Amino acid sequence: MSNYHIKHLEEYFQVYRNSVRNPEEFWEEIAEEHFVWRRRWDKVLKWDFDAPEVTWFQNAQLNITENCLDRHLDTRANKTAILFEPNNLEEAAQHISYSELHLRVCKMANVLRANGIQKGDRVCIYLPMIPELAVAVLACARVGAIHSVVFAGFSSIALSTRINDCDCKMVITSDGSYRGNKTIDLKGIVDVALEDCSEVSSVLVVNRIGSTIQMKEGRDQWLQPLLDKAKSTFTAEIMDAEDPLFILYTSGSTGKPKGMVHTCAGYMVYTAYTFKNIFQYREQDVYWCTADIGWITGHSYIVYGPLANGATTVMFEGVPSYPDYGRFWDIIEKHKITQFYTAPTAIRALAKEKLEFVEKYDLSSLKVLGTVGEPINEEAWHWYNNNIGKRKSPIVDTWWQTETGGILISPIPYVTPTTPTYATLPFIGIQPALMDENGEEMRENQVEGRLCIKFPWPSMARTIWGNHDRYRDTYFSAYKGKYFTGDGALRDAVGYYRITGRVDDVIIVSGHNLGTAPIEDSINEHPAVAESAIVGFPHDVKGNALYGFVILKETGEGRDRENLKKEINQQITEQIGPIAKLDKIQFVPGLPKTRSGKIMRRILRKIAGKDTKNLGDISTLLNPEVVQDIMDKAL
Ligand code: PRX
Repeated sequence: MSNYHIKHLEEYFQVYRNSVRNPEEFWEEIAEEHFVWRRRWDKVLKWDFDAPEVTWFQNAQLNITENCLDRHLDTRANKTAILFEPNNLEEAAQHISYSELHLRVCKMANVLRANGIQKGDRVCIYLPMIPELAVAVLACARVGAIHSVVFAGFSSIALSTRINDCDCKMVITSDGSYRGNKTIDLKGIVDVALEDCSEVSSVLVVNRIGSTIQMKEGRDQWLQPLLDKAKSTFTAEIMDAEDPLFILYTSGSTGKPKGMVHTCAGYMVYTAYTFKNIFQYREQDVYWCTADIGWITGHSYIVYGPLANGATTVMFEGVPSYPDYGRFWDIIEKHKITQFYTAPTAIRALAKEKLEFVEKYDLSSLKVLGTVGEPINEEAWHWYNNNIGKRKSPIVDTWWQTETGGILISPIPYVTPTTPTYATLPFIGIQPALMDENGEEMRENQVEGRLCIKFPWPSMARTIWGNHDRYRDTYFSAYKGKYFTGDGALRDAVGYYRITGRVDDVIIVSGHNLGTAPIEDSINEHPAVAESAIVGFPHDVKGNALYGFVILKETGEGRDRENLKKEINQQITEQIGPIAKLDKIQFVPGLPKTRSGKIMRRILRKIAGKDTKNLGDISTLLNPEVVQDIMDKAL
């Protein structure tokens, strides 16, 4: 039990030092004392960042659902595992106990098996934030199938790309979803997607909104009647430590999304251990993370991390603005939430509304606040601290990525003194490095550079599905022997880290990772468009918004510009989803390019950000004359 729950700063430093000096012994002790295994490992860690190849808990066997469900049945059978808060106020919240969740997962696992799903098969889950989503995820894990959850805000094209990339056999979806006062036709989106997915033989449909939908004979089935008939026990499939648990897609700097592959044992150990410490979770707490399970935050810190600790985890189906901007605070009061974990973009959006929306509610149950997904600006940090935490709940600014599986840099609340905008110190076992322009590690403090991690941690993604070369090229080739995060960061005088943002072609909009390449590809497919370039610019709610510079073909020149803008955004919505829409579109005669033909995004970023005093030397460009024209007409 020794180091599982860190309680003061001295202990953090001591445990940290130990974890770095003796990583194998350290993680072995955590794994041994806090999880159930079907077979013990032969070796804790084998790694080679050049290959790259990483193995944790070699040859161990387990099933993560036995750790998240079965082992709690003796002591927590009636404790709430999932507390579901529906979108609609007329519907009551549901308290799903550990024994009920276990039963539902077993039934679902039987339905998957009966419909041909075997260990290693890929199952796509495209569901709103309803309990069936968590149940489907866990049921896949129980039968050994690899789940690929696709966020239910993605378009049919984005969905079919993800289904085909990993050859999913099955899709689990719902007739529709509630979002504020709207409903969304999810099944319709799936139907369109599946026109391009010949491998999908089975679609299971949750009845969520009671709408009339098309059911394709021989392919589509309503889920509930199958569950009603299913057996209530299911022996968990025995998994190897390094068997894939799930695939989750994230944007990259080329058009194709990257299917990050996470494996069973290391992911379980690390997400559970970080959850316990970074939220200082105690048995009676009611923990709420507002993310969607379609993102890594939901996988690690709504489902697996909390359930592995026997926690009560809240799932909220709705949006922060419905029925009004007090909804989050209402839920905190109603369920006496103790830990609240959200995104800076949500904080900024809510901070713009009247304080009365907050003041109406009793938030005194809160003990820990968290943020994730993008840098939090100082103003939003103070608003959160003053108005939500009432200056008594520490804010954990947690830095991590889809690829890292769990939180890597974060304060531990009540342990690490916090500083606004700083993610502070590396978590136990994490060895960050800041690299200078020459590719050398800077070992001193008060430096800024590119953020790498120089030693493996248990929950790191092991590969990109079907493309190990891309995994190596993206993460392990920039700095030899190190994992490159794609972020810039600074380290201050006391060794605290502050993430400064992406240094590659990924833009974070409202906490969502968007690659510029797929959006540009989508714009360029418009018949009137010759070429385009996307950059981010500062936005007071979204953090960054997208600015598109578009060159029209001659045939497009005569077209109405406003209509063209609408069509371009429509195209992006269809191909990627509404989250990737452009806030500003400027039609330009050319794009600034280097002599080798590379678009100078640095210049475009400055123009978009209205920071044109210091453009640097543009005389070496292929076409310096376009810069003035673009500046003159900037939006
Ligand atoms: O740029 C960093 C930013 O989000 C990126 C990872 O995005 P994604 O894979 O979608 O995962 C988001 C949820 C873990 C990072 O490369 N980011 C994430 N957390 C922070 C952050 N930037 C600054 N501060 C954070 N706390």
